Amino acid sequence: MKVTVVGAGAVGASCAEYIAIKDFASEVVLVDIKEGYAEGKAMDLMQTASLNGFDTKITGTTGDYSKTAGSDIAVITSGIPRKPGMTREELIGINAGIVKTVAENLVQHSPDVILIVVSNPMDTMTYLAHKVLDLPKNKIIGMGGALDSARFKYRLAEALEAPISDVDGMVIGGHSDTGMVPLTRLATRNSVNVSEFLSQERIDQVAEETKVGGATLTKLLGTSAWYAPGAAVSGLVQAIACDLKKVYPCSTLLSGEYGLDDICIGVPVVLGKNGIEKILEIELTDAEKAKMQESAAGVRKVNELLDV
Ligand code: LAC
Repeated sequence: MKVTVVGAGAVGASCAEYIAIKDFASEVVLVDIKEGYAEGKAMDLMQTASLNGFDTKITGTTGDYSKTAGSDIAVITSGIPRKPGMTREELIGINAGIVKTVAENLVQHSPDVILIVVSNPMDTMTYLAHKVLDLPKNKIIGMGGALDSARFKYRLAEALEAPISDVDGMVIGGHSDTGMVPLTRLATRNSVNVSEFLSQERIDQVAEETKVGGATLTKLLGTSAWYAPGAAVSGLVQAIACDLKKVYPCSTLLSGEYGLDDICIGVPVVLGKNGIEKILEIELTDAEKAKMQESAAGVRKVNELLDV
């Protein structure tokens, strides 16, 4: 199993590290445009192998995509991250060109690759990848919902004063501060609905904290987060590599599901060896449907800025 991660910045390197620590891939190739950077990160990570107990071989290259040839899965993290006060959407001008070039280079060397798009604005970058590449729709996946759901579970556990492993919850919709739709109605603590433990006001507060989860970190760190994004990507990669048939909310091209068409947005999917093996259409309340429509309108506005 060969995995390429493009962008050896904080998100890309974390992603490579978590993939390696989980020890399911034979090879991870890190690619960056900054001379020597991916090679350096790969070497540093390889020097953790005997300490962390993995056999995954990590190599780095400065922009030589021939080294990525035959990748089963490729992750695109390249582009600029947001700075405090910026929205993910504001990155489109710079990141669209980068993502297009990277995606084309990857597919040229690995025509059967499954792509995971992380660069922001992620839903629009995933849509762009669909427009510029001739790949089947199950093979292009946007990573947002897995991360947003992890942030949701963190905030839920905090409010419940419960261990995170007892908490379950999912965030669908666009990967933006206003577009996320945390499905509070379905969130549980060890199979019991969280409304048994928390007031509606506290649940609504958890949803709001979840939606600005990335922005809160960007303010604290001066740039956008990397541990949780890297871990979330590694989960998707593992689900595909090990054919786990795991359900994650991912940005996927919709053709009528959830009443939406020709848009990439977060909905629950089954991930296995073919990438997105199934889109799960769960029953939403009218209020949740309205939130999804509003979220989709926001994503479409950004998609309109694309030159495709
Ligand atoms: C975040 C970036 C990865 O939410 O979008 O941290």
